[in-house]
Amino acid sequence: MADRTPLIVGNWKMNSNHLEAIQMVQKLSYRLEKEDYERVEVVVAPPFTSLRSVQLVLEQDHIPIGLGAQNVYWAESGAYTGEVSPSMLSKLAVKHVIVGHSERRQLFRETDEMVAKKTAAVVGAGMAAIVCVGETLDQREAEQAEQVVTTQLAGALRGLSVGGPSALAIAYEPVWAIGTGRNAFPDDAGVIAGIIREQLRSILGSEIGDGVRVLYGGSVNAANIKDFMAKKDIDGALVGGASLDPDQFAAIVRYRL
Ligand code: PGA
Repeated sequence: MADRTPLIVGNWKMNSNHLEAIQMVQKLSYRLEKEDYERVEVVVAPPFTSLRSVQLVLEQDHIPIGLGAQNVYWAESGAYTGEVSPSMLSKLAVKHVIVGHSERRQLFRETDEMVAKKTAAVVGAGMAAIVCVGETLDQREAEQAEQVVTTQLAGALRGLSVGGPSALAIAYEPVWAIGTGRNAFPDDAGVIAGIIREQLRSILGSEIGDGVRVLYGGSVNAANIKDFMAKKDIDGALVGGASLDPDQFAAIVRYRL
C-alpha cells in the first residue's frame, strides 16, 4: 500500500480581506511546529484577493504552509471577464486548486464537464487539483451516494493524464454535511473513500491510484478529525468553517497529538 502523507486543507471560502488573511496565516503559523509540517502537508486556500498577501507572508517568514486557490478558469488568457487563469495562480506560487466544490456546482452551475476542463487545466499548469465530489441529502436517502460520487469522479477525470499521484487529490464532501455541523459518520465516509480509491486505481492505474490522497470534508473539527483519519482510505481533510479559527485549524492539523 502506498505511503500517503496526510493533506489538510483550509478552505476559507469568501471570508477574510487581505489584511485579515495575513493575520490568520500568521496566527496559524505560531501554533504549528516543524514536526507538524513533517507529519502533515498543510494548505490554506484564501480568496483570490488575499493570495498575493498570504504568499508574501509565507515566503518572507519561511512558513511551510502551501498556498491553495478555491477556483480557476481553464483558458490561459482572453476575454473571460472576472475569471482567473491557471498560470496566474501558479505565478503566485499556488500549488493546489480546489475544483468542483459543491457550492460552485450548486450556486454557480458548474457541470462535470466544466470540472473536467478545470482539473485538466490545473494539472497542465503543474499544480495539484483538489477535485470535490459528494451527494446531496436526497441522493443519500435514495441510496444514490455511490452512484453520484462515481459519476462525478469519472466526469472530472475524463481524458486526464497525470504524471504522478501528487497532481491530484479527491475530496469526498457530502453536500448535507458542509457547513451544517452535521458530519458524515466516519464509517460511511470511509466506505465512500474506499470506492473512490478503487475507481482511481481503475482510471489512473494502481500505482497512481494508490498514491492519490482522498480527503473527507463536511463539518470537520478538532473533535472528529481523528475518527476520519483512522479510516484506511481517508488521507486528510478539506476544512471550511473550522479553518477560519487558527486555534481550531491547528488542532485539526495536530490530530495525532
Ligand atoms: P465545512 O466546509 O467544514 O464548513 O463543513 C467544508 C467545505 O466546504 O469544504
